Order: sequence, then C-alpha cells, then structure tokens
Amino acid sequence: MATSQSDSFSNDSEIPDLSGRVAIVTGGASGIGKATCHALAKSNAKHIFILSRNENSGMAAMEDIRSKTPNPQITFISCDLSSFASIQRAANTFNLISPRLDLLFCNAAVCLVPQGLTQDGYEIHFGINHLGHALLIKLLMPTLLKTVPKWPHDVRIMVLSTCRWNWAPEGGIIIDDLQTTQPQLTSKERYGQSKLANILYARELARRYRTIKIIPLHPGIVDTDIMCRLQKKYLRAVYRKLGHELLTPEEGARNSMWAATAPRKEVLSGIYYDPIGVAGKGPKASMDRDLAVELWEWTEKELNKFCG
Ligand SMILES: NC(=O)c1ccc[n+]([C@@H]2O[C@H](COP(=O)([O-])OP(=O)(O)OC[C@H]3O[C@@H](n4cnc5c(N)ncnc54)[C@H](OP(=O)(O)O)[C@@H]3O)[C@@H](O)[C@H]2O)c1
Repeated sequence: MATSQSDSFSNDSEIPDLSGRVAIVTGGASGIGKATCHALAKSNAKHIFILSRNENSGMAAMEDIRSKTPNPQITFISCDLSSFASIQRAANTFNLISPRLDLLFCNAAVCLVPQGLTQDGYEIHFGINHLGHALLIKLLMPTLLKTVPKWPHDVRIMVLSTCRWNWAPEGGIIIDDLQTTQPQLTSKERYGQSKLANILYARELARRYRTIKIIPLHPGIVDTDIMCRLQKKYLRAVYRKLGHELLTPEEGARNSMWAATAPRKEVLSGIYYDPIGVAGKGPKASMDRDLAVELWEWTEKELNKFCG
C-alpha cells in the first residue's frame, strides 16, 4: 500500500533487537496497541504488559500474539483509565512484577464518545486520554527513572496524540470546567482538547524529566475500531479519492515503534512527530508555554487530590 508515511520505516526490518527491555502498552488489546505489542514481541522484548480494561480482549490479544511469535513473555494487567483506583492497582501490580520499565506506550483513548464523566468526575475524553495517562505516568515514574542508568539505551514514553489536535476549541483547553461533561463543546472539540493536552503535557514532562525521552506522535489515519462504521466508510472513500488507503493497525504502529527505537540522536524529547521522523508539524498551541504550565499545574493539583 502506498501511503505518505508508511514506506519510510518498517517494523520488521528496522526495529533493533529489544532483548532485555520491558514495555507497557495501554489499550494493548486492540488496534494500534495490539499491533505495537506484536511488534515488540517480534523484536524480542523481555516482557510486554498489556494494560486494558477488558480482560477478554486482553486474553484474546495475548493468545493471538503467542500464536504468531515464539514464546513472548506477555502479561495482562487490568486497567480502566477512567478510574484512578484502577490505575493505581495496575501500577502497583506492575511494580510488584517488574523492577524496570524501558518503554511506556500511552496508547489507549476514547474518541467522539457521548457526553460523560469518568468515575472520578472528569470530562470523559479528557479524563481517560489525558488525566488517566498522567496518573499512570506519575505512578510509574520512579520505576522509569530507576531504569535510566541501567542500560545504554533511552527510557522512552510514547504518547499517542492525533493530527486532530486542531479540533480543540478556541483557547486550546477549557480548564475551568473539566469536571463537567462540557456540554457547550462538540464531541470533536472534547476529543481534540484531550489530544492537544497529550502534546502539551508531553512537552512539559520532557522539560521536567531530562533523562527520559517523551515523544508525542500521530499514528496516521488507521483502520481501527476507534472510528464508528460510518466514519470509516466516509474516510475510506475520501482516502481512495486521494489514491490512498487507511493504514492497517500494523502500519499505524510504525510511528510508535520508530519513536521507541530510533537512534537517540534522531528523536527529540517533547516534540510532536507526524509522520514518522518529521518533527515540528504540531499545533502552535503546543508552543504555548503558559498553557502547558497551566495544564501541568491543574493536572498535578487534581492528581494530588487522589494520591498526594
Ligand atoms: N485510528 C486512527 O486513525 C487514529 C488517528 C489518530 C490517533 N489515534 C490514536 O491512536 C491510539 C490508538 O487508537 P486505535 O486507533 O488503535 O483505536 P482502538 O483500537 O479503539 O484502541 C483504543 C484502545 O483504548 C482502549 N481504551 C478506551 N478506553 C479505555 C479505558 N477507559 N481504559 C483503558 N483502556 C481504554 C480501548 O479498549 P476497549 O477495547 O476496552 O475499548 C482500546 O484498546 C489512540 O490514542 C487514538 O487516539 C488513532
């Protein structure tokens, strides 16, 4: 398939051997996350953890990966990113099993779901896509930092955002009422806002944690269940008119795998990549230091209510 981004990096031939490295993939039971787990397994990652809210899909994904790859060490941990308590249990479980964490893929997300709140009372896109991952990162940070000096390679966090950050409302993030369903916004604005937050938060994390690389990225437009049937039909038609196809989940995992494994000098921390290896096409708002700091401080305040 010819696409503007899929030809530049191949999961199979360009990923270095990942022996010894431990990885977590949120939303690793389906779509791009599952393809990422498969690519990690093929590259001999030491231990892959699928964090998913759905045990049945998690088990099915592990079985599928095991049937295609000889003896991967792969473990399912239940984690519902809409619940701080569930995230805390998942982080505790992980920390009991593994003393190290080399690669964290913040991949799970909801997109264009109806108005709602997470179990802790935040707008549902923002609560799952940004705040849930922010808590997971916070709880895993001691393990990530402990891993840094142990190997000559980087410890990296890949944050799946989207080119649809531009759906965010005017002002970028409407911080004042994130503890409502934000009925004044469209679902596109709510999704775009959460994905802009992914980019801004990654940038701020990168500024504060210089020994870890944090890489926000767009995976491409990928044929997964995050889109409803009608959206897929529409997008397929638009892409065909342009002479392209939607990416497969395996192709969609390439930017994540590139960010996780490309040579240190080629990957900048805190910079948004879209497509593979191309930095700097991110939103102007991602350069808005004031907004990034405001988001950081709000996020810390909210997370500290739970774990402070
Ligand atoms: N597909 C695209 O064209 C596209 C474009 C731009 C960006 N992205 C980004 O790529 C990432 C992967 O998406 P995808 O396309 O692979 O879609 P997907 O197959 O729907 O994957 C999303 C994953 O997130 C999980 N998830 C949703 N809510 C969760 C929660 N509360 N707790 C834990 N896990 C939860 C889902 O689990 P369940 O199966 O239990 O729902 C699913 O495994 C997302 O961050 C998305 O925003 C995708």
